[in-house]
Amino acid sequence: MHLRLLLPSLSMLVLLPIARPATAPTTLPVEDRVRDLLSRMTLEEKVGQLVQYSGRDTLTGPGSQAELVPLIKAGGAGSMLNVHGAAKTREWQKLAVESSRLHIPMLFALDVVHGCRTIFPIPLGTAASWDLGAIEQAERIAAIEASATGIHWTFAPMVDIARDPRWGRIAESAGEDPFLGSTIARARVRGFQTDRLGAPGTILACAKHFAAYGAVQAGRDYFTTDVTERVLRDVYFPPFRAAVDAGVATFMAGFNDLDGTPCTANAFLLDRVLRGEWGFRGFVISDWQGISEMLEHGNVADLRDAARQSFLAGLDVDMEAQGYEKHLAELVRSGAVPVARLDAAVGAVLAAKFRLGLFEDPYRNCDEAQEKALLFAPAHREAARDLARRSAVLLKNNGVLPLKAGGITVAVVGPLADSAGDQLGCWSGLGERSEVVTLRAALAEAFPGARLRYAQGCLTTGDDTSGFAAARQAAAGADVIVAALGETANQSGESTSRASLDLSGPQLALLRELHATGKPVVLLLMAGRPLLLEAVDPLVDAILVGWHPGSMGGPGLADVLTGAYNPSGKLPVTWPRSVGQIPLFYAHKNSGRPTPTDPEGKYFSHYIDTPNTPRFRFGFGLSYTTFAYDSLRLSAPVLQPGGPALIVTARVRNAGARAGEEVVQLYVRDRVGSVTRPVRELKGFEKIALAAGESREVSFRLAPADLAFCRADMTFGPEPGAFDVFVGGDSNAALSAPFTLTAP
Ligand code: NOJ
Repeated sequence: MHLRLLLPSLSMLVLLPIARPATAPTTLPVEDRVRDLLSRMTLEEKVGQLVQYSGRDTLTGPGSQAELVPLIKAGGAGSMLNVHGAAKTREWQKLAVESSRLHIPMLFALDVVHGCRTIFPIPLGTAASWDLGAIEQAERIAAIEASATGIHWTFAPMVDIARDPRWGRIAESAGEDPFLGSTIARARVRGFQTDRLGAPGTILACAKHFAAYGAVQAGRDYFTTDVTERVLRDVYFPPFRAAVDAGVATFMAGFNDLDGTPCTANAFLLDRVLRGEWGFRGFVISDWQGISEMLEHGNVADLRDAARQSFLAGLDVDMEAQGYEKHLAELVRSGAVPVARLDAAVGAVLAAKFRLGLFEDPYRNCDEAQEKALLFAPAHREAARDLARRSAVLLKNNGVLPLKAGGITVAVVGPLADSAGDQLGCWSGLGERSEVVTLRAALAEAFPGARLRYAQGCLTTGDDTSGFAAARQAAAGADVIVAALGETANQSGESTSRASLDLSGPQLALLRELHATGKPVVLLLMAGRPLLLEAVDPLVDAILVGWHPGSMGGPGLADVLTGAYNPSGKLPVTWPRSVGQIPLFYAHKNSGRPTPTDPEGKYFSHYIDTPNTPRFRFGFGLSYTTFAYDSLRLSAPVLQPGGPALIVTARVRNAGARAGEEVVQLYVRDRVGSVTRPVRELKGFEKIALAAGESREVSFRLAPADLAFCRADMTFGPEPGAFDVFVGGDSNAALSAPFTLTAP
């Protein structure tokens, strides 16, 4: 063990029991400390900071990664992913801190996507809560748990706009809308980083996957994207921009190629927009082997050129591709890459380490007692239960819900009813199946003993119907059936694109059997994306979307089913009727023929076999009460640049007999633009709680900047003219009023 001199500013010698990097005084600004350290680094040490490898946890024994040990000891890896645990990270960190020449600590990264050990609903689910406080709190808890297990950096939030449910990664997104996506992106970044990165329980966030990864052609993961600059700026960029404005520390480049250039080496994205226009000062990492995948994309002939192009475009850290490890030093030596660019990239990585306080205490997150106390702590579980119920969306209810208390018998049937792993969903971090409370277990509390019957019925794949008989039997003896159907965790997330969005395997057949019993059927859909419900709808009396609800999803959803919680979720994505309608989103253009132009009603923009409308619209979700809207008024008929903002006010009344929460939504239509404009766009929302019979006025503020878009000349800003506002409980909000934006 080394003893090191630290804190020279104290003018005294401090002997510390652990090795620490010799750096400039902690009182100096981070920029000065970075400059000082850079001045003492060799070219190879600098390159090392830009290299990231995945760890398999063990340093010794079977499956160990002995080959990484010399590299880390030489300062050749600035960060690692997938190494976690207070003890494990300490072991790996020691290699870097005690053996490398400059004792620079490593960053440990993990995909903490919807919780670390306590798993919250998938991000698409939490987006359905429209509850920014609860979302921020969930990320705060995720960060606290991640730090307790040695992690400094999460590859989240994923802020890709997702308008194609065939794409499995829609599960990781906040859905289709740039405004909702931006608002949630800010909440997530704040949750991970707070406003004081380095404070206990904070970790670096990473906005990914820059950019337009959600627009992969035909919804096929990793496929190509071709999106106009206008659509990038209006739709795909805003949540990334919001993340930058919230201070996000890092970015990840997408796997996709965009207009012919992979995002990994896309100078338009990384250099011009991200750094040039938005002033991002953090660092950018590739996605897994993104640099070497350019050989497959076919825009480079070899790894050296892939590394050169990526680095010059603004890609700072290489995840797993060996491109920088093998070629970057030579590229700098040969002059192909300027030293200034190298110093900028390394400086950004070092700055993040300084901000996190790793130079003062490289083992700050390696406390096993803390780890034990914090992971899956009772308060975290309670928050996960609460967010699971806030995320659930009630799409249909003919009165069967909430389940009547008082002696009824419930049959819970289906492949998702008692499946801990599937309840966790994709990217479930360090979530433990053994800690999950399933729907079946939770309902057994509400309906004890013989009042709860259970049968799995079938799987979500294959064609085995041998479990149907038991399912029929369970259903026959019950007053109501809860059918937990949908997707397994493996059918959702990365590399799980689907060409069919029907219930897979024998699930629809099982539902038919259940329907045939004549008992009321509640469909509880657990899935990572919208699934088609046309065939399902006539067979069921209620539809509750629970998404993949996480560790405490069982109790959370049971709360909704029993009425202990009144559902308040609203769809963050449009729910199509058929795959042929995709991409389908509410903020579409009007077209030149929105309605028939001929007596036969033929010549207009439509399908001859399916309505244009979705099955369920964006922003929609039912409650056990109803809300009525009236008294819409504007503070003025005219909005003047430089003048006061327009205040849009409406009255919302809980018209039912029980308390509930409503997401009040504001949409705007720009009637005429220099380019065509969407039929409406979300510009505000507020989630409010109202007692039975209670009314409240809700106000939104609209300034000219809120009406900005990418104009015909490619500048970004509003255009004077006529607008309409709409206020209501979903994207079809009917209450409307006109206003005019005047020229500056
Ligand atoms: C690939 C995924 O695309 C990305 O989202 C993730 O962060 C990395 N792998 C690291 O696990």
